[in-house]
Amino acid sequence: MLRSLYVHIPFCKKKCKYCDFNSYDYQSEKIAPYMETLYTELDTACRKMKNGTLGSFNASENQMFDTIYIGGGTPSFIDSKYIEKLIAMLHERHMISDDAEITIEVNPCTVTEEKIQAYQRAGINRISIGLQTTNDTILHTIGRAHTFLEFEEAYGIIRKAGFCNVNVDLMFGLPGQTLKDLKESLNYLIGIQPEHISCYSLILHHDIFQNLPPEEVERQMYYDTKEALKNQGFEHYEISNFAKKGYESRHNLVYWNQGEYIGIGAGASSYVNHMRYTNEQGIESYIAKVRRGESIQHVQEVQNMEDKVREYMILKLRLISGVDFQEAREIFHFDVKKKFEKEIEKLVRMGLLHENNADTVMLTEKGLDFANVVWREFI
Ligand SMILES: C[S@@+](CC[C@H](N)C(=O)[O-])C[C@H]1O[C@@H](n2cnc3c(N)ncnc32)[C@H](O)[C@@H]1O
Ligand code: SF4
Repeated sequence: MLRSLYVHIPFCKKKCKYCDFNSYDYQSEKIAPYMETLYTELDTACRKMKNGTLGSFNASENQMFDTIYIGGGTPSFIDSKYIEKLIAMLHERHMISDDAEITIEVNPCTVTEEKIQAYQRAGINRISIGLQTTNDTILHTIGRAHTFLEFEEAYGIIRKAGFCNVNVDLMFGLPGQTLKDLKESLNYLIGIQPEHISCYSLILHHDIFQNLPPEEVERQMYYDTKEALKNQGFEHYEISNFAKKGYESRHNLVYWNQGEYIGIGAGASSYVNHMRYTNEQGIESYIAKVRRGESIQHVQEVQNMEDKVREYMILKLRLISGVDFQEAREIFHFDVKKKFEKEIEKLVRMGLLHENNADTVMLTEKGLDFANVVWREFI
């Protein structure tokens, strides 16, 4: 089983209007104390792993991290010395396996040659960069801090440095976005050939934009994305994710395969020993509590077998490959298909699930549009 580490860096140059992530701008003076606190938390987690008190994570059995994801916020906003120190700490403690996938998220307007070279020296081997759209007017409307030209420059720097595993984030359903705009963004990406593309439908929790595309146009955008990327040899492997063969995100696959992971930093989540935790969310309270030696972890869920198998179904049904009931039987030691016989029959009748053979179910094209309806059956 893979071991994964998520590290949260909550700082951004500018907060995008649509973003609900645990991320903040105008907090530069907090970067140094935050990173010191993060190193303390990391050190504690490594020590717990070494003495076998972190669930099934046990470094004494030579278990190291196979995937590390430095996300945010914008990790590239902070000085690269902090990232170098983070990775150096993990190396010193022999916590990184030789072929680990190490990803860092970057925003175009914070990329410099020096930072990218520092990441490379540190052993980071995957970069995820947010473009969202090639249309400068839309970038401005949604509050992005960069232009399309700045993306092109940043992408050039990343490729010139020799990174050969790059993800680009795209969004659709954006204010003022037309099918033609999206096509231009997709054509541009097809031209520059990143190894991986995440394409998210805009999710809003507040009414902040007026000229959003109508629902049928938003859905057409998803169909156009799938068609354009599949025609260009990208495998559609998760609802919002597309990859060239062999470049699927190993880290995200751990989440979707219900693997365990440790999250460090403000608001980061962990899934260890059938429990889900979330760290203290605010930067200041996170720093203060770690300094005082208080617990920063809030237990979100303690799973029994029933919770676990239900969550397994939901996570697996995010993946285009769906649920393999033979694998499920090996994990849970009972017939998971029989347990959900009624739900599966109903969803197949509704045209949302497809039974590939006796032992596999997956979302249909219609199911991809109504994934929430499918997941609801397993809650
Ligand atoms: C942490 S950010 C990526 C790195 C960097 N902070 C940036 O934005 O360039 C993660 C990605 O989530 C997506 N995202 C954020 N908020 C979203 C929302 N409300 N709806 C859909 N996608 C969203 C964006 O594509 C964004 O690039
Ligand atoms: S840069 Fe990324 S993390 Fe920061 S506010 Fe924008 S989308 Fe959110």
